[in-house]
Amino acid sequence: MSEPRTIYLKDYQPPAYWIDTVSLKFVLDDHDTRVQATLSVRHNPAREVGLPLRLYGVDLTLKAIALDGQPLEEGRDYRIEGETLDVLSVAEQFELTTEVSIDPAANTALEGLYRSSSMFCTQCEPEGFRRITWYPDHPDVMAAYTVTVVGDRASLPVLLSNGNPIESGDLPNNRHYVTWQDPFPKPSYLFALVAGNLEKREDHFITQSGRKVTLQIWVEKQDLNKTEFAMGALKRAMRWDEDTYGREYDLDLFMIVAVSDFNMGAMENKGLNIFNSAAVLANPETATDAAFQRIEGIIAHEYFHNWSGDRVTCRDWFQLALKEGLTVFRDQSFSADINSAPVKRIQDVNFLRTHQFAEDAGPTAHPVRPESFIEISNFYTLTIYEKGAELVRMLKHLLGPGDYRKGTDLYFSRFDGQAVRVEDFIDSLAEAGNRDLTQFMRWYSQAGTPMLEVSDEYDEGAQRYRLTVRQHTPATPGQPAESKQPLHIPLRLGLLSEQGEALSLVIEGKALGTDTVVELRDAEHSFVFENVASRPVPSLLRGFSAPVQLQYDHSPAALALLMKHDEDGFNRWDAGQQLMRRAIESAMRAIQQQQAPELDPLLADVVGTLVSTPSDDYAVLAEMLTLPSEQYVAGFQQRIDVDAIHQARNFVRQALGDTFYAEFLALYRQQQSDAPYVPEFKQIAQRAIKNVALSYLCASGRDEGLALAKQQFDADANMTDVRAAMTLLVHSDNSELADHAVKRFGEQWGHDSLVMDAWFGIQVTRPQPDVLERVKFLMQHPAFSLKNPNKVRALVGAFATNRVNFHRIDGEGYRLLADVVIELNRLNPEIAARMIVPLTRYQRFDEQRQQLMREQLERIRREPLSRNLFEIVEKALAAG
Ligand code: TRP
Ligand code: ZN
Repeated sequence: MSEPRTIYLKDYQPPAYWIDTVSLKFVLDDHDTRVQATLSVRHNPAREVGLPLRLYGVDLTLKAIALDGQPLEEGRDYRIEGETLDVLSVAEQFELTTEVSIDPAANTALEGLYRSSSMFCTQCEPEGFRRITWYPDHPDVMAAYTVTVVGDRASLPVLLSNGNPIESGDLPNNRHYVTWQDPFPKPSYLFALVAGNLEKREDHFITQSGRKVTLQIWVEKQDLNKTEFAMGALKRAMRWDEDTYGREYDLDLFMIVAVSDFNMGAMENKGLNIFNSAAVLANPETATDAAFQRIEGIIAHEYFHNWSGDRVTCRDWFQLALKEGLTVFRDQSFSADINSAPVKRIQDVNFLRTHQFAEDAGPTAHPVRPESFIEISNFYTLTIYEKGAELVRMLKHLLGPGDYRKGTDLYFSRFDGQAVRVEDFIDSLAEAGNRDLTQFMRWYSQAGTPMLEVSDEYDEGAQRYRLTVRQHTPATPGQPAESKQPLHIPLRLGLLSEQGEALSLVIEGKALGTDTVVELRDAEHSFVFENVASRPVPSLLRGFSAPVQLQYDHSPAALALLMKHDEDGFNRWDAGQQLMRRAIESAMRAIQQQQAPELDPLLADVVGTLVSTPSDDYAVLAEMLTLPSEQYVAGFQQRIDVDAIHQARNFVRQALGDTFYAEFLALYRQQQSDAPYVPEFKQIAQRAIKNVALSYLCASGRDEGLALAKQQFDADANMTDVRAAMTLLVHSDNSELADHAVKRFGEQWGHDSLVMDAWFGIQVTRPQPDVLERVKFLMQHPAFSLKNPNKVRALVGAFATNRVNFHRIDGEGYRLLADVVIELNRLNPEIAARMIVPLTRYQRFDEQRQQLMREQLERIRREPLSRNLFEIVEKALAAG
């Protein structure tokens, strides 16, 4: 473990040397893989001459090092210090060769080259390449790679790397080799290698210019029957990127590999995307609707990186959101086009507001472009990804679709083959749209969720309506409130009459239709709408046009009106969410005062209308009927009362289920279908509304609800319905039904690791108090392993989302998480640093819980910590 050192954006310097070509030879072995590297090195004329060549390496055993064929001597010709190797006094141009030994079987960090079940695979982003060979492992060093992989022919029949295979053959001792060449210069983080006993699904895609691209999905043999959907999704993504962004695939071969031990979702290595098996494998027997949709989005995301990331890459890791924000925005747009745009937007915003806003409010809050880091792996965050995507979405809003496309075309053509900065992207858009985006750049440097406070005034005599918008951003670590500056914010809005009609908007004599975007630039801004015949109801921040927290005090009646009549589907949903949140909050206040909560009659009224009016969009209706989560509600509280929120939300669910039992039952029965399962939109919508109805029937407390859930579970029609029913049974107080579901599901799916992840997750999220014991018990289950990140997330990660049990007042939930984090710190620091996050968010809990969480953080701090955990723990404790 090396001394933690902070890296600053302001210290960036271009590399002293460029690498033109890299030639690698791997001789694969579990504990002694040999890597020979030949780098052709050239001095960068932009830097002074005579600088040493700096290389990075972690856990490498150096076997040989030579410069232009001459072996080098340590101390005289090169120096190793921690993770760096400096080659001293080098020429303008030279060739450096090294050989190292590495131990893939002992690599539990899953960075660099490691074993996962029977295969070898790599993960190099962001700094895994230095665990493979000594290299200037920064993204601005781009080189053309030729890679030869040597392995045992029987156990490793498939040997893959980036680009195209150019040569292969047999070798003595039952070995064989394949040589790969990638013609596109790339940074080392996009290098990949896979070797194993794999089988493939193969298909083809004809590009818009008529080239035929071979598509392959490589998996272990038993998983071949889970690859069809991903292949279809890949082809849809390729077509969409041609149609929407004019981006065509560039190589003749595109490969995807499924790996069961993987730290994240998937990785966009050039021509050889490596996927967490959970993010690619699915068939109708084993996967839910949500899993299919997630897979489609991730396949698209990684494929889209080929342009936004690989062809045009990042100058340094501070620019991470340049590729991730843009690529998330692209995959969100793809999914919206393929499925339902309103539902996709609702889900994305719900996710952002629940989780990214929480990050912004906590001790690890950081700007979309951070200014410093200790461990870059800690910055693959919701802020970089999700908020980063919102910034691109706002830019598209500000430019309009035509100029936005011109801007991205300009960006891709101007910077093709280069490693660039956020400014390069913004300048391309500014130039294409002829817009000044200087102020917009603040979005990239200022952390925190901006608050928009809206007030209004209606002047009946003048028929004028004035909206005043004040913006401010609360303090975040390192950025006091006084330092925050006003942002450039597109605010989409409309006005409704008291009858719910859309009003024509007129500002300064200009007619703007019924929906318009106003741009905020100052701390305070007023807009005067003319010819307004009576006091209107404003519909603000339509489509969630900016990642801000909006504060406007709509009356409950106004919310009900918006919910029914707003022309913007997103705001109809959001008005409903506000009503529901208020109902939960008022039930909570009653519970805190030991009074009986009552159901808000206005909420009952609108839900009554929703469930009894025939709908043409069941997917949106399902979202409209879903209560905001406990975590989302907690985000609005100064002092979080875990138990009261839980009871209050349950009360509202139960009261709605009870009041509209007949309507939910009718809805449930209406949506039964015998059609064979397909994960396509119409069916997904039908199952969504059916399972929402079932959840209210179960919540009502009547036995018939649970009986229906058992029926649905036993009918075993498809995984979506089975898992929905199982969750209701296992989370109910009926232990007989809960045990029945756990037992049968476990027996039926014990052989399928991905399905078992759900089995773990459902059990450890139940609200009953036996959960802690169950988590400990399940951690001993043969299907669980601390070395597998999917298992850790499914069991321990899911437990940490269990509001009442993780936050037990005896602190045992926190202790369990800390125990796991301490073990993971040794095995897999990247995952350890992700799992600890719930413990760092102690600031708004009661004194006792704060104390208990801090105790666990202090206990963790006493361990010899990886850089990853060190950074997070220090920040968390400093915030107290
Ligand atoms: N670039 C990947 C993506 O967003 C993210 C990723 C995959 C990653 N594996 C990783 C990031 C390991 C950090 C560490 O598509
Ligand atoms: Zn990505």
